[in-house]
Amino acid sequence: MTTLTVLPSGKTYEVAAGISLLQALLDSGEAIVTKCGGKGQCESCHVMVPVGRKSLSKIQRAENEKLDGIVGVSSSSRLACQAILGEEAVTVELLKL
Ligand code: FES
Repeated sequence: MTTLTVLPSGKTYEVAAGISLLQALLDSGEAIVTKCGGKGQCESCHVMVPVGRKSLSKIQRAENEKLDGIVGVSSSSRLACQAILGEEAVTVELLKL
């Protein structure tokens, strides 16, 4: 288990390690768009991870290529469907839908 803090609400959840950040957000009832069903194809699950990036799985080439095409991408950007949670706490910032 790990702690997931969601911004801007500031809500915290205890979620399973080893699942995707997207799945953890959906299981927690957070509103996040998943146009491709979590296959890393649509970019709709783009989030910022200001805390705990090192606890997430490393960015793979395909995710990196998708992120490169997103306006407003930053060094804390991830596709939630491609980021697998580790054991350390993570803070994620949801972007406006
Ligand atoms: S849900 Fe489509 S890229 Fe993550």
